[in-house]
Amino acid sequence: MAAGKGTRLKSKHPKVLHEIGGKPILAHVIATARKVVPAKDIFVIIGHEADRVREAVGGFGVNFVAQSEQRGTGHALMVARNALAGYDHVVVLSGDAPLITADTIKKLSDFHSVQKATMTLLSADLDNPFGYGRVIRKGGTYSKRPEVLAIVEEKSATPQQKKIREINSGFYAFNSPALYEHIDQLSTANAHGEYYLTDMARVFHRARRKVVAIKTEDAGEVLGSNTRAEMMDLDARLRLAKCRELLDAGVTIFYPHTCVIDSDVEVGADTVIEPFVQLLGNTKIGSDCRIRSYSVIGNSILGDGVTVKPGTIMEGSRVANAAILGPYTHLRPGTEVGEGAHLGNFVETKKIRIGKGSKAGHLTYLGDAEIGENVNIGAGTITCNYDGVNKHRTTIEDGVFVGSDSTLVAPVKIGRGAYVAAASCITDDVPPDALAFGRARQTVKAGWARAKREQQKKQS
Ligand code: UD1
Ligand code: CA
Repeated sequence: MAAGKGTRLKSKHPKVLHEIGGKPILAHVIATARKVVPAKDIFVIIGHEADRVREAVGGFGVNFVAQSEQRGTGHALMVARNALAGYDHVVVLSGDAPLITADTIKKLSDFHSVQKATMTLLSADLDNPFGYGRVIRKGGTYSKRPEVLAIVEEKSATPQQKKIREINSGFYAFNSPALYEHIDQLSTANAHGEYYLTDMARVFHRARRKVVAIKTEDAGEVLGSNTRAEMMDLDARLRLAKCRELLDAGVTIFYPHTCVIDSDVEVGADTVIEPFVQLLGNTKIGSDCRIRSYSVIGNSILGDGVTVKPGTIMEGSRVANAAILGPYTHLRPGTEVGEGAHLGNFVETKKIRIGKGSKAGHLTYLGDAEIGENVNIGAGTITCNYDGVNKHRTTIEDGVFVGSDSTLVAPVKIGRGAYVAAASCITDDVPPDALAFGRARQTVKAGWARAKREQQKKQS
């Protein structure tokens, strides 16, 4: 179920597309469902901003069911009637509870089968059950018997019922034909004026069909995200769990609470991550690296033994083994850094390849360039890649030495082993092993300054 608006978030974006752990909430739920059944057996009920939701998770290959008017969780299942016609056994997942595990979904499903129940709900004991539906068990609260009489929503609960800490997680298994035989008995006579799927418990109980609950051991995994505060709590839980997983895999993370590491990030053993680092998207980092504070690395691949000094920003880049980056290097998409290469302070790159052992230590812009091995790029070098209309390429072959403050006006090529004199503006290709000057020759006027000062003294 993913059709709701998420009114309590006060957001213009649909709730299920808000991100936790760097991924839409719904993407977490679908990815977990995919571990249990193939995509062709997954039906995502969408409604609010349906096109955006469909686009965001379309890549999973799941089916979609449109609930164009969102009249409650019961109504969500009503509109899925035709889609689910061929199934006997249906598991319902809440699109806003992303921490659920495949193991728990399987347990819910298996328990439902073993109990031969018509409806099985997954429950949990929460210290603070506020906002959740409460489970009314046959035989009283905390009865060991699995049978359930009803679920009461927060708004309809009596003070006594509000004290019940066993909550309905919003995950269920149903006998599908029975669900559709009885679902029309739901009504909207409640606080929200909606069809509550939770009321199926009472409906089935009245029809003498079996309704049972199975309780999760880890209550944390059923938590929903109705408010921003709940979402941030889930995000923190997920990221901390991610850090624990990396720690277990041999990664050192100092002050993990300060790091933002997305769910799909991979890091090799003996890599050290300092405080306040962000590793985002599909980033993969090798082993024996050191990622120093305040670096933000998105969708990039780093080899082994890479040093990333503080404040380095990287997106869509590849960095080979033993390279050294930063402090304050900015690698924009399409950057490929060769083995042992070094990019230093305030060096910005975009769509470049820089070869093994090459260096650009300071204050440089390198864009749309192919740079060979063992090249030295002096401080302040700029590739002038843009003429106001088109982008042009710069080629710098192996072993070139580019003096400081040079401007290389693309398209231009500096041949293997050539030198570019400092402060040159290079507009023409430089042949291999040559020295290119692109600046006016220095003139010296002996005594000029002294003469000027004496003249000024006379005037005053
Ligand atoms: C629901 C349960 C509550 C349970 C809680 C667990 C009901 C009436 N209440 O409350 O007992 O404790 O989940 O998190 O079911 N949705 C639709 N179509 C709709 C309405 C909702 O697809 O018309 C989707 C939402 O997008 C969401 C999910 O169903 O992903 C749950 O809806 P939500 O409004 O968050 O229900 P809760 O108030 O949290
Ligand atoms: Ca919810």
